[in-house]
Amino acid sequence: MHPTLKLAQAALSAFDPVIAQTALEGLTAPRKTLPPHLLYDPEGCRLFDAITTLPEYYVTRTELALLERIGPELASLIGPGASVVEYGAGSVTKAALLLAALEKPAAYAPLDIAEVAVDGTVQAMRQRFPQIALHPIVGNFMEPVALPPLQTPLLGFFPGSTIGNLDRPAAIAFLAAARQSLGQGARFLVGVDLPKDPAILVPAYDDAAGVTAAFNLNLLRRLNREAAAGFDMDGFRHEARWNAAHSRMEMHLCSRAAQSVPVAGQPIRFAAGETIHTESSYKHARGAFLEMARAAGWESEACWTDAGQMFSMHLLR
Ligand code: AVJ
Repeated sequence: MHPTLKLAQAALSAFDPVIAQTALEGLTAPRKTLPPHLLYDPEGCRLFDAITTLPEYYVTRTELALLERIGPELASLIGPGASVVEYGAGSVTKAALLLAALEKPAAYAPLDIAEVAVDGTVQAMRQRFPQIALHPIVGNFMEPVALPPLQTPLLGFFPGSTIGNLDRPAAIAFLAAARQSLGQGARFLVGVDLPKDPAILVPAYDDAAGVTAAFNLNLLRRLNREAAAGFDMDGFRHEARWNAAHSRMEMHLCSRAAQSVPVAGQPIRFAAGETIHTESSYKHARGAFLEMARAAGWESEACWTDAGQMFSMHLLR
């Protein structure tokens, strides 16, 4: 095939009407937004992995150290023969740490909407824990999901402060759905980032090396490909803001000038300085998180934080 034709075909086959529709919905709203899940195309996943090792991004290494520290206590609270259900399958390292800490865990069941993510995680775990039963589950964890029969005690696992991406109603709905699918007697271990000085938070979401900026801007490149958009990559810049009123970090893409950008055949107008809000990352103090957990039918069994009070792990029952 002629190289130009081949390119054209690749561009055509990359168009995704669902992505285009989602993008148009957010970009035609009075305050422009795009859902954060759009950040995670293959390049976005690669950039997010790079974020987790940045000096400014304290989140991942703090949670890993905390998880390692509480391992023995967690193991004695949970008891032997547990099955772990992970919500999202993005963090082999954390799940491996948890499984290694528990006493003779029986099963590990990663639940994710992306089949490739679930399969990849199961492959990695089979190597490391040949004695543990593996149950990949493909499903949307925002809804109650039917779990395969799993040996009890059951432990749900939701690390990474991923819950921070959800606003209050969505976080409560998620916690309630997890409670329903995990069932009576289950526990839920949730990693939650804590509110802190914006002088720490803002650089964590706007690092000196520009990796988070690339992660955010990659979304526009994705829309150019998958939503037939015409974003000029130099026409926008990354912005990280602390929203104190909502206790959340926000990522925005800020239009450097007044411009019109075609998206799936529709012109989208931007004023100079107007932004697209691409992600919220809520930071929940202990009490605020537990209040949501209670609204979803959970109660607190334990809560741990690191010495610097940067990050928390909640054990709910
Ligand atoms: C994966 C949602 C927990 O909010 O800290 C990192 C994503 N965004 N840097 C977070 C993210 C910018 C991350 N979560």
